Amino acid sequence: MNVPLLPTLSTALIVISGVLVIIGWILIKQQRRNAHKNVMTAASVAALLFLVIYLSRTVIVGNTSFGGPDSIKIYYTVFLIFHICLATFGAVLGVLSLISGYKDNLPRHRRLGPVTATVWVFAALTGVAVYLLLYVFYKGGETTSMIKAILGF
Ligand code: HEM
Repeated sequence: MNVPLLPTLSTALIVISGVLVIIGWILIKQQRRNAHKNVMTAASVAALLFLVIYLSRTVIVGNTSFGGPDSIKIYYTVFLIFHICLATFGAVLGVLSLISGYKDNLPRHRRLGPVTATVWVFAALTGVAVYLLLYVFYKGGETTSMIKAILGF
């Protein structure tokens, strides 16, 4: 299978980060606070690495537009925008959860934590779906500037 290196690497990081969040949630359910803290911090580092690779590729190489049939392009675009919103929301919640966790602001952290973890895992799952649609199920389209790749014109 001929898949591009950087998107494959960043998608692997998304998967790792999503799996770590699930493990971190299980750990806190078992009251293992220190392990929870370490695993959630590791999940955040993986997500940050994803962001660094993704953004550098966007700036240096550009984004790839959908290469599948025109008839389903609109569904891909709507799904991609949904994924981007989910990931952005997850990132904001992630920062707030980290801050409240490190500050020991537990009432706030307990409210934010489950929402953050759920959004994060769904952002990761939809991210993998975008990767599969873009590079595996269909051959990636043209690689161009970000705005063109997202909107498809
Ligand atoms: C993005 C990162 C994080 C996420 C998504 C997250 C998520 C969660 C979740 C889902 C819970 C369980 C809440 C409940 O069921 O009531 C929780 C509890 C907890 N978290 Fe985190 N967490 C994160 C980072 C951290 C960090 C960095 C620390 C510590 C420095 C931390 C410390 C705790 C503690 C002490 C609890 C137990 C609260 C209690 O039971 O009273 N968390 N977190």
